[in-house]
Amino acid sequence: MPFTFADPTTPAVDLYVIETGSIDTLPEFAQKWAQTYGFTGALGQVLAVPREDGTLACAAVGYGTALLRKRGRFFVGAAARKLPVATYRIVSDLPRPELEEAALGWLLETYRFDRYVKPAGAVASLVAPKGIDAKRIEVIAAGEVLTRDLINTPASDMGPFELEEAFRALAHAHQAEVNVILGDDLLPANFPMIHAVGRASTREPRLLDMRWGIKGPLLTLVGKGVCFDTGGLNIKPGSSMGLMKKDMGGAATVLGLAHMIMGLGLPLRLRVLVPAVENGIDGNAFRPQDILKSRKGLTVEINNTDAEGRLVLADALTLADEDQPALVISMATLTGAARVAVGPDMSPFFTDDDVAASEVSLAAARVADPVWRLPFHEPYEAMIEPGIADLDNAPSGGFAGAITAALFLRRFVESPYMHFDIYGWNPTAAPARPKGGVGMGARALLEALPKLLKL
Ligand code: BES
Ligand code: ZN
Ligand code: ZN
Repeated sequence: MPFTFADPTTPAVDLYVIETGSIDTLPEFAQKWAQTYGFTGALGQVLAVPREDGTLACAAVGYGTALLRKRGRFFVGAAARKLPVATYRIVSDLPRPELEEAALGWLLETYRFDRYVKPAGAVASLVAPKGIDAKRIEVIAAGEVLTRDLINTPASDMGPFELEEAFRALAHAHQAEVNVILGDDLLPANFPMIHAVGRASTREPRLLDMRWGIKGPLLTLVGKGVCFDTGGLNIKPGSSMGLMKKDMGGAATVLGLAHMIMGLGLPLRLRVLVPAVENGIDGNAFRPQDILKSRKGLTVEINNTDAEGRLVLADALTLADEDQPALVISMATLTGAARVAVGPDMSPFFTDDDVAASEVSLAAARVADPVWRLPFHEPYEAMIEPGIADLDNAPSGGFAGAITAALFLRRFVESPYMHFDIYGWNPTAAPARPKGGVGMGARALLEALPKLLKL
């Protein structure tokens, strides 16, 4: 089984995790080999120690120093592709959070997006370290892999229809209920902005709705499912359009998180909403200066058809709010401004609840899923008020673009609310995080949920 630990009864090779300069913690015969080889325990180094007959006696992975380890994550897991193919067992004493990171990193290091190429050969496997919840780590890895596959699949094979299929498959796997509102049915069902954004595509827009669980607080996740973002009539230049298959990264990430929540059987009721559309161009495309009336009744002046995410999310958030959840969380590849602010590695998030914000930040640090709080800065509310309508979807100037987008979304939610403006993409390969689609914020949220919802 992919992304799972090796059967604990299989014979496993001892794997030592060695800090820089600590090769004296290796068995004596291995220390000599380490010296011969120049293995010092530097971060990312690996060492395979043979017996006289050429079989594997033990192995080691360099763990560097605490200071250097802060520069990244999943350094132990990276050994999965560097060591000879075998089954390993970590024998060094690591604190539990580091063991969990090592174990998850190992599973995720084995991920490659191979839908369109011949799959690579086998990689080394790991017996689940003692003292961690192996099942939990496997479910988290599976959720993350789902997110990555959905983002990496190009828009030709991941349009609104295929996203619906993936949504249904996930729901089916967890006996969740699904409701879908498709195409022109969005108008009588009162999702005018989802329809307006998606109607110019030959691939019909839709609203995907999943419900799971029968008791506990209601958590509603809303994910931006723009399967491709051309920018619409305000068409993006080629350089900005190049990555826009990932504009359903919010949907992919909430689906990954939903898999984790349902797979672990958290004691809550879950609803997942995904407005799935393609922001395309055709004679019936919505235009700059159009004024749309949203599901909530607020009118929105379109000042840029490329600010489409907040439009489809607004209608979905209005629906989310209608059954008064304990918490609404939206995740979206919403603004370039969020990237300028914090770069590709962190998930900026917004909430009015200081306690919840610190729970998320602490949880994020525990599970190596970095986040950073940005403010719902009220003085900027005026920037999203155009005068000619209730709201402006794209304030001119672009100052505080991530904040004004978040303020726009907040106008549609009265329940407790948290919003993540994620990138969904890893631009440079790193341990356990190959270049390409990547989940951001989901693991931090999973870790924080017991506190956020008092489970
Ligand atoms: N999907 C983009 C945002 C985006 C771009 C995310 C690049 C990640 C990487 C979104 O729909 C968009 O185009 N937003 C505009 C809004 C602006 C027109 C107000 C942006 O951020 O430039
Ligand atoms: Zn856009
Ligand atoms: Zn977009």
